[in-house]
Amino acid sequence: MTVTLSAKPPKGLFIRTYGCQMNVYDSERIRDVLKPLGYAPVESPDAADLVVVNTCHIREKATEKVYSELGQLKRLKEASGGRMTIAVAGCVAQAEGEELIRRQPAVDLVLGPQAYHKLPEMIARASRAIGDRLETEFDTIEKFDALPKTREADGPTAFVSVQEGCDKFCTFCVVPYTRGAEISRRVDDIVAEVRSLAVQGVREITLLGQNVNAFHGAAPAIEGQGVWSLGQLCRHISKVGGIERIRYTTSHPRDMDDDLIAAHGDTPALMPFLHLPVQSGSDRILKAMNRGHTADAYRDIIARVRKARPDIAVASDFIVGFPGETDADFEATMQLVRDTGFAIAYSFKYSSRPGTPAAEMHGHVPEAVKDQRLQALQALLREQQSAFNAAQIGRTLPVLVTGKGRNPGQAHGRSPYLQAVHFDGPDHLTGQIVDVKIRAASLNSLTGELVSLREAAL
Ligand code: 5AD
Ligand code: SF4
Repeated sequence: MTVTLSAKPPKGLFIRTYGCQMNVYDSERIRDVLKPLGYAPVESPDAADLVVVNTCHIREKATEKVYSELGQLKRLKEASGGRMTIAVAGCVAQAEGEELIRRQPAVDLVLGPQAYHKLPEMIARASRAIGDRLETEFDTIEKFDALPKTREADGPTAFVSVQEGCDKFCTFCVVPYTRGAEISRRVDDIVAEVRSLAVQGVREITLLGQNVNAFHGAAPAIEGQGVWSLGQLCRHISKVGGIERIRYTTSHPRDMDDDLIAAHGDTPALMPFLHLPVQSGSDRILKAMNRGHTADAYRDIIARVRKARPDIAVASDFIVGFPGETDADFEATMQLVRDTGFAIAYSFKYSSRPGTPAAEMHGHVPEAVKDQRLQALQALLREQQSAFNAAQIGRTLPVLVTGKGRNPGQAHGRSPYLQAVHFDGPDHLTGQIVDVKIRAASLNSLTGELVSLREAAL
């Protein structure tokens, strides 16, 4: 008689991610944390044993999407005879907690952004039908410490979380409540993660944090006590073999210190792209938002950054229709945009979030006025984005190749300014930095031709 020993089949994992890059990173780490338990990613939720919905709470629309997604998953769970486990992670989980389970009883597990390293334990408890279905304690230090120090790369670019949370308490924002206080990861741990990615071929690292330039992580053990700033961290990471490009996002004007500005001038690996949200160009509104700086202070920072790195692409976020915003306040925002010149920007209508100070303010702006202002702002921003892209025509840019194009013989990559670049080139270029001469530009991408392979020179 022969006995065949077969390995346990993998359990299907489907993760749906909403919101910011921090959530994208967290979803990758959730996948890593679940791998030892035999969970392997599947293409669609109907093939999954476990579905994780990683949620965003930043605006009302984002939260609504979560509930409609959970309604669809409930039907899939019923169709699976109850075999599917549904977990809700991220900021809606943090903000709504038990309310979520009450509103959608098909949800099995609810875990806040600081708790996903506890997911294996929660799944085990759920399968034995014991204990809590809810884990929303703030335990960021524990979370950073509990994360595996190495991880699997997924292409030549990767996010690495270095800081989490926010103490700024902008009056419109839920982040300080959902992500907790600012906390930084230790430099040694960050470097270990970067090294593990570099040996797998990652060339570009984006350092992530809700307030990434507030980073103040414990210095490397060999350097003794003390904390490092983001500028120091960037210089250090630029020395890790294989890492050619560094980016960071998202930053706050108040934390844009001299050393970080200097790093843009003295660290070639630090890419010429700065995402520095300003939200409004009106001092009155900036004050009501509790941003802690004026419009001119923002202009001054941009001028200093441009002095250090003249070609830097500047990106920003804007909110229109904050309570009390007048036509004159909005015009001040338009003027700041005209004065600055943005490569790309994200703009939103103010969305009132329960529990934030702005929700209680007077002078909420009618939806139709918000719509008009958003349209006017976006038209101006689109114009600037097109102009910024068009300005690259004729230049030869170093492009990090991120993958093959739709048709054979086509490839795509990223310019130093984070623009998508399409060009004709052989299939094996992914992960290399090549020179592409830019021939055409549109609102969202550049097209060019391959001039040379730089790798030989590296
Ligand atoms: N309403 C609209 N936009 C918001 N943002 C944050 N909170 C709100 C809100 N209540 C925007 C800000 C921030 C970006 C991530 O989302 O512009 O920079
Ligand atoms: Fe929200 Fe302001 Fe903190 Fe950014 S800095 S996460 S907008 S509170």
